[in-house]
Amino acid sequence: MALLLRCFLFSIICSFCIQAVDKNNFKTCDQSSFCRRLRAAKPGESKYELDLSSLQVSDHSIESVLLNTEAGIQLKWSLTALNGNIFRIQVDEASPLYPRYRPQLALNGETQVAKLEIVDRNKDIVTVQHGHNRAIIQARPFKIEFFNDDVLVSVVNGRGLFTFEHYRKRAEGEESQAQEDPGAWEENFKSHHDSKPKGPSAVGLDISFPGALRAYGLPEHADKLALRTTGQGGIDPYRLYNLDVFEYELESTMAIYGAVPVVYAHSPQKTVGAFWHNAAETWVDINNSKDGNVMSSLVNLVSGSKSENNVDVHFMSESGIVDLFILMGPTPKETVRQYATLTGVAPLPQYFTLAYHQCRWNYNDEDDVTTVVDNFDSHNMPVDVMWLDIEYTDGKKYFTWDPIKFPHPDVMINNLTSTGRKLVVIIDPHIKRESGYFLHEDALANDYYVKTKDGSVYEGWCWPGSSSYLDFYDPKTVDYYKGLYGLDKFRGTTNDVFIWNDMNEPSVFNGPEVTMPKDCLHHGGWEHRDVHNEYPLAHAAATFEGLIQRSSTRRPFILTRGHFAGSQRVAAIWTGDNAAEWSHLAASYPMCLSEALAGISFCGADVGGFFNNPDVELLQRWYQAGIWLPFFRAHAHIDTRRREPYLFDEDVRNRIRTALRLRYAHLPLWYTLFWEHETFGDPVIRPLFYQYPEDLDSLDVDNVVLVGDAVLARAVADARATTVSVYLPGGQDEYWYDMEDFKQYHGTGNHNIPVSLDKIVAFYRGGSIVPRKDRPRRASAMMRNDPFTLYVALDNKKTASGTLFVDDNESFEYRNKKYIYLSFSFKDNTLTSTLMDKTDYPSKEWVERVVILGPPSGVKGARLNSKSLGTVELETSYGNEDRSLIIRKPGVSIREPFTIKLY
Ligand code: GLC
Repeated sequence: MALLLRCFLFSIICSFCIQAVDKNNFKTCDQSSFCRRLRAAKPGESKYELDLSSLQVSDHSIESVLLNTEAGIQLKWSLTALNGNIFRIQVDEASPLYPRYRPQLALNGETQVAKLEIVDRNKDIVTVQHGHNRAIIQARPFKIEFFNDDVLVSVVNGRGLFTFEHYRKRAEGEESQAQEDPGAWEENFKSHHDSKPKGPSAVGLDISFPGALRAYGLPEHADKLALRTTGQGGIDPYRLYNLDVFEYELESTMAIYGAVPVVYAHSPQKTVGAFWHNAAETWVDINNSKDGNVMSSLVNLVSGSKSENNVDVHFMSESGIVDLFILMGPTPKETVRQYATLTGVAPLPQYFTLAYHQCRWNYNDEDDVTTVVDNFDSHNMPVDVMWLDIEYTDGKKYFTWDPIKFPHPDVMINNLTSTGRKLVVIIDPHIKRESGYFLHEDALANDYYVKTKDGSVYEGWCWPGSSSYLDFYDPKTVDYYKGLYGLDKFRGTTNDVFIWNDMNEPSVFNGPEVTMPKDCLHHGGWEHRDVHNEYPLAHAAATFEGLIQRSSTRRPFILTRGHFAGSQRVAAIWTGDNAAEWSHLAASYPMCLSEALAGISFCGADVGGFFNNPDVELLQRWYQAGIWLPFFRAHAHIDTRRREPYLFDEDVRNRIRTALRLRYAHLPLWYTLFWEHETFGDPVIRPLFYQYPEDLDSLDVDNVVLVGDAVLARAVADARATTVSVYLPGGQDEYWYDMEDFKQYHGTGNHNIPVSLDKIVAFYRGGSIVPRKDRPRRASAMMRNDPFTLYVALDNKKTASGTLFVDDNESFEYRNKKYIYLSFSFKDNTLTSTLMDKTDYPSKEWVERVVILGPPSGVKGARLNSKSLGTVELETSYGNEDRSLIIRKPGVSIREPFTIKLY
């Protein structure tokens, strides 16, 4: 049996190594009954009407009967105004045969309602006002138009594709059954049968965005940032269904590990968002009029809009209710913030999580872990976190250690953490069905597992072989699971051990599309069909609570592969099993940018590529690009050659060391941005259009990331590249400084930049001040009290500004005002540092140096002024052929306000 199992797993693993994605394992829309049914809806033939005579009005919402005129079924429709320029539309059945599922975890608590006023009403039309926004609701055919300051920005059901399949008993008689889609009441895919005990229950809706030039969002897809028109050229709708897709393909709308149903429609005039709050399998058609689809002109007819450009979006989900949020914008920044008010933000992560993580499948034993870190140290390469993949366990039994390879985990961990390092270990949601395994025994005894449609414990295959899956919808399972992370339960671990939740789509090797059958049952009687996309969030949320229970004073760190709207509140994500190919390096930027717009800023890709062996050029370029994504971890498949960066020749080591050090130098920037993300809701990394919404040429640029608004980085993702073209936005008056030689460029579009193998293509925006820690160290913990160098990159008016957040790097005390938040500004030849909030943290950090880029000429010296130091004369000197001015040793603590005046 054991041998059989090993062969089975080996054949799976090895088949992944040699072949690309097997598309036959995954459905196309045509192979999915509900997608076929909803996609067949014809524009302009809506059978739904509002019965406005039933209208009920409250201070913040209106409600009415929505009639399916064909079936004579009553639905409950409502429109609610929410704080921050958001409308919410909900449709459920008035008297359903079975309750319909509403996601439980995506929203960050109760939504905040706002005032909604009826401004006009007759029997066919109601007009409501919410701040600067208006909605015109038309009864026949059912349609809602949204206006921002009298400009039509979005039309719901403008094309009349709204569909709501009410639960019903199956009609008897062959004839009526023959009229239904063959998969409506039960469905087969490959050898799998979906029993569909409740029958068809899909919901769908179209939303048009008049004037929009692009649509973004809907992660996770291995695709471009800007969404493509689907339906043409054989492009399937974007599919949102968490799936473990081996060797996923690029430029594809296929579903992969994550599913975040938020879309943004953008034009220079306005950005509008739509969040489709549904946890079932979802497909999304996109029509962009620029791609010449005749369908999209229909909205102009229907809405009377003269707009030439238009984006149409059609959401189709297998079950649940319609719960749609329209985010009225009007800028990318405001729209993304509106989404953050609904689904929350990532809490400030511990400082070390932003440093470099070293992972592979697997570090073989305790010595291996120690040796790797020693090697990093002896080669002066910084590393903060070591990772252990599934082989550390005793036979893939999570919360246990392999007794031969890891006999003394506590000793190994203490060795590691005594130098400020941390450990992350993997914990997957499948549980090995082995008698004597405490977790399995507990789960059986206490009913913690997901069930089959017949109520027996569901059994599927994953890494351990035969496995069952914890039901994170059951409060008693969650309660038990939280306890497993306790130091008394997970023996050998300490508060410096953090968690990697993988395979939680959930991945089931022998399940339909490598996941759990949809007719499996969760607590509360919900089918897996209803909750599928939310399951990984339920898993990671339970882990998060477990780590809080373990230590309420330390911020948890969790990496999750599957994810849903709201996952940012509990975990970071990565882009799963990519490959050691240039194209995958390139894809890491748009994939993470898309996640960041969808609320999930803490994103990275396996540096070096997971499958296969990168050549040294690719590996170096990957490090050089990977330092500019929020989550920075090298990882590799078990069959790949070892590739820790110290294993290469000196030139390669030097280049990777330089990249690592540049990452570490910018940790204060990343940390500040994460605090600002938690505080204001702004993404940590941003695509160009977010920061430059009016720049038409930036709309499709996705080979650069902006880190906050200060750094622009370009991945070099071509073999043997000697130059790359970098798009610098903002126009003639926007300055960009090459981070290496401080050469100044203007934001006039594409620039060709020579790229020797040493070159990291990154710029500071003129007008920004970036605090760095430039002293090289072995780990971020050793930089704790290091001084700052302030890089002041001047704009065309010789001004600049920036911020810095400092706290204890690990606890929640910042929420009790134990932090400092500084604002720096430079104008009139004076640098000023101001404490922003009435808070304090006893920081020992100080300012060691100021480097001014694009400095004024003729400076002879500088004069510092602060309360404790009084007036101090400082030395200055020009560098980099007068492209920079260095102010030496201000020596002032960051805790006190100061000015430095050039003369
Ligand atoms: C999955 C993960 C990968 C991990 C492997 C073994 O393929 O995506 O990162 O190494 O499982 O746990």
